[in-house]
Amino acid sequence: MDAIVYVSNTGFTEKYAKILTLETNLPCYTLDEAKKQLKKGSEIVFLGWIMGGKISGLKKAKRRYKIKCIGGVGMDNPKNESDDYLIKKNRIKGIPTHYLQGGFNMAKLTGVYGFMMRTMLKSLQTKTNKSKEDVQFEKMISRGFDKVKLENLQLILFEINKLK
Ligand SMILES: Cc1cc2nc3c(=O)[nH]c(=O)nc-3n(C[C@H](O)[C@H](O)[C@H](O)COP(=O)(O)O)c2cc1C
Repeated sequence: MDAIVYVSNTGFTEKYAKILTLETNLPCYTLDEAKKQLKKGSEIVFLGWIMGGKISGLKKAKRRYKIKCIGGVGMDNPKNESDDYLIKKNRIKGIPTHYLQGGFNMAKLTGVYGFMMRTMLKSLQTKTNKSKEDVQFEKMISRGFDKVKLENLQLILFEINKLK
């Protein structure tokens, strides 16, 4: 295994990548940095933030590196997000893949993603007859949260140690 490569928009995936580096001594690079630092065909663990079920950067990373393990970072409760769903949605074949709960930070969302999420929040705030899920989701995105912790990485660390 040569490195951890990641794509992060607001910093939660980056936090996971840095914890993996501390735990394994493997260097970590953004997908852009990796182009300069790693040879084509290097063996990597890939982490990417999830947008609409898709793991950002995965397609690009697959074209350049041998991906040995994948982590998809989203805001959903892990109870509602299965590894199998991620595997199907991203058409992953034969690579161990795990869902990791990251967090949400509206202040760091700019451009089109910021616009989308602010519009979603506004429509939730003005909605009448909110379901329990609506209320929970509104709280999550208006206040923001951070669920990144070492113990969520146990399955990925297990895969890395198996391959070392
Ligand atoms: C436009 C958009 C779409 C998102 N879609 C999903 C999703 O489908 N599933 C999920 O769990 N989280 C989703 N999220 C939440 C992010 O994946 C989550 O905030 C993640 O921790 C961001 O990681 P980052 O800080 O490394 O960018 C979405 C966020 C945005 C802005």
